[in-house]
Amino acid sequence: MISPEDYLRHDVKIIHGYPMIYAFTYNWERIEQFQCKPDDVWLITFPKSGTAWVSEIMDLIRHDGDVEKQEKIDIGRRVQMLESAIPGILLEGTEYLEKMSSPRFVRTHLPISLLPKNFWESKGKVIYVARNAKDVVVSYYNFDKMNKFNPEPGTFPEFLEKFMSGNVPYGSWYEHVTSWWEKKKDHPILYLFYEDIKEHPKREIRKVMQFLGKQLDEETLDRIVQRTSFETMKNNIWVNYKSYPSTFFDHDISSFMRKGIAGDWKNYFTVAENEKFDADYEKKMRGTTLKFRSEI
Ligand code: A3P
Repeated sequence: MISPEDYLRHDVKIIHGYPMIYAFTYNWERIEQFQCKPDDVWLITFPKSGTAWVSEIMDLIRHDGDVEKQEKIDIGRRVQMLESAIPGILLEGTEYLEKMSSPRFVRTHLPISLLPKNFWESKGKVIYVARNAKDVVVSYYNFDKMNKFNPEPGTFPEFLEKFMSGNVPYGSWYEHVTSWWEKKKDHPILYLFYEDIKEHPKREIRKVMQFLGKQLDEETLDRIVQRTSFETMKNNIWVNYKSYPSTFFDHDISSFMRKGIAGDWKNYFTVAENEKFDADYEKKMRGTTLKFRSEI
């Protein structure tokens, strides 16, 4: 019988060359063999890029902005995470999805190489959300201090090095954001940026609505903007991770809904770290047309 001590704070496990959260790697076959459907809508992100935020936006759009129609369960189940697993405690993400009626909203952080085998042929729509690398590092570092599924992050300088070398769960941010950007050429992908949603929430929510093929009036869109604001979501138990026991996520260390801003990296990076990061970034991102804003 597997228990949380077997996987919490465990080092990552390498799956086909990518570091993965140890608890999620049991029975990896289930991911490869997962049957994607043409009417699945995927939300794909590198961790800490606004996954819960856009999940809540999608779920509210699906329910015409009406919170009463939303299921009173965690957002990680309403927009079900494919690879999630809490062995010995909860059903695996794939099992929940198999029981779910269509059209399903599925979320994942998986890089392209680890997707289920029939992902591309199933042709499901993809919403991809990307966030600037520096704020992702800071958010990931703080999250890993409180998220027991991931290895201890160490100090910020140590974590920064690991991030730059792709030695964090799900691997290289650089590869993730650029490879999904390239896929836009031959697959229906709505590629969104965290900073844009922060700056113009209604405009970006409207894009999601149109991509989902829904029509909502202005008043409803305004309501969704309000209900997915940082302040509202911070106090919503079904999105702020407080519905999980502290054995998994310890909110006394850091909140999941931490700051929700662009540019917090300035409070973490030293001048030397910033220069090193920028030089390395320049090399890794050379050749892509993808551009980020690290402040707004
Ligand atoms: P910070 O740690 O910088 O605050 P993910 O859901 O991919 O794990 O991303 C989590 C990050 O998104 C956290 O960033 C969290 O605060 C931020 N976030 C979640 N909901 C948000 C919202 N409504 N507005 C702005 N940021 C939000």
